[in-house]
Amino acid sequence: MPPEQHAPQPPRTVWITGASSGIGMATALACARRGDRLMLSSRAPAPLEEVARQCSSLGSADVLVAPLDISDDDAVRRASANAARRWGRLDVVVQNAGVAAYGRVDEVPAAVLEGVLRTNVLGAAFVASEAVRTFRAQGEGTLVVVGSVLGRITVPWMGAYNASKFALRGLVRTMQQENRDVPGIRICLVAPGGVDTPIYDQSATVLGRRNRPPYPVSSPEHVAAKVLHAADRGAPAHRELDAGWANPAMKAAFALAPGVFDRLSRPAMRALGFTRGRRPDGPGNVLAPQPHEEGLHQRR
Ligand SMILES: NC(=O)c1ccc[n+]([C@@H]2O[C@H](COP(=O)([O-])OP(=O)(O)OC[C@H]3O[C@@H](n4cnc5c(N)ncnc54)[C@H](OP(=O)(O)O)[C@@H]3O)[C@@H](O)[C@H]2O)c1
Repeated sequence: MPPEQHAPQPPRTVWITGASSGIGMATALACARRGDRLMLSSRAPAPLEEVARQCSSLGSADVLVAPLDISDDDAVRRASANAARRWGRLDVVVQNAGVAAYGRVDEVPAAVLEGVLRTNVLGAAFVASEAVRTFRAQGEGTLVVVGSVLGRITVPWMGAYNASKFALRGLVRTMQQENRDVPGIRICLVAPGGVDTPIYDQSATVLGRRNRPPYPVSSPEHVAAKVLHAADRGAPAHRELDAGWANPAMKAAFALAPGVFDRLSRPAMRALGFTRGRRPDGPGNVLAPQPHEEGLHQRR
């Protein structure tokens, strides 16, 4: 069954990280339309409260707002314990929160390099670990991790992000292997290509250029439908789902013709990855949130 046509499911308890913007926000709204009970997390409380308000009016049975930094393991454990106290169980955890940085690896400030890896790898590992501990105690549950096609291919000027998404994929593959002894546990990786979200204006940069999602661009709603497909048990238990029709071709070219791929990668990235617009260099939302930039799509 195509992901957009998943079968109706009874309401579940769902924890979504990075729920205040882009793919996480689209996922929260889609879950709310089905009446799911939701715990929404990201760092800045105000945009999270606004998404919670929208979720309640769309039909969510209960919405819990849990502002936190996913790289704070104590905060992650506390939030999960709160959800357990309130609902008695967690059916689905969507580890989606992430940040990005643009610039040659050797030119990206050390704090930004560290910040990208701290959120995208360490933070993701803390949330995924808490999900698995909860699921093992319950005997079941679904973890959906939002990775990227940049966990399978690399492009220039995104080294910190490439490294984080390759590491994240290794983490998810390992956790899939480790949890095969509990058949009720499902762990899926959703790997989007370019998606029209605020991350391109939120990213750190040392290039002074405004970024954009490279063609072909998916909507956050399309990726959310893939996340729900995985959460609905529409996919096999441990699976990597692409969200982006060009992902398979890009992965094949990267693996089978690396020399050609690498030669084309710089002009392709220059043509597709940046607008003509300028942007001041800075850490973006890597070190601290920028709530005014959050929303469903990239601002025009
Ligand atoms: N857009 C794309 O083209 C694309 C492509 C492939 C993969 N992805 C992946 O999709 C995921 C969502 O990205 P998006 O495009 O929707 O970006 P986005 O619109 O910038 O949203 C990112 C979300 O993560 C939260 N966040 C960032 N750092 C956090 C931290 N340390 N702790 C808790 N929350 C944090 C942000 O809120 P606060 O800043 O308030 O915390 C925000 O809610 C990311 O993992 C990204 O790598 C995106």
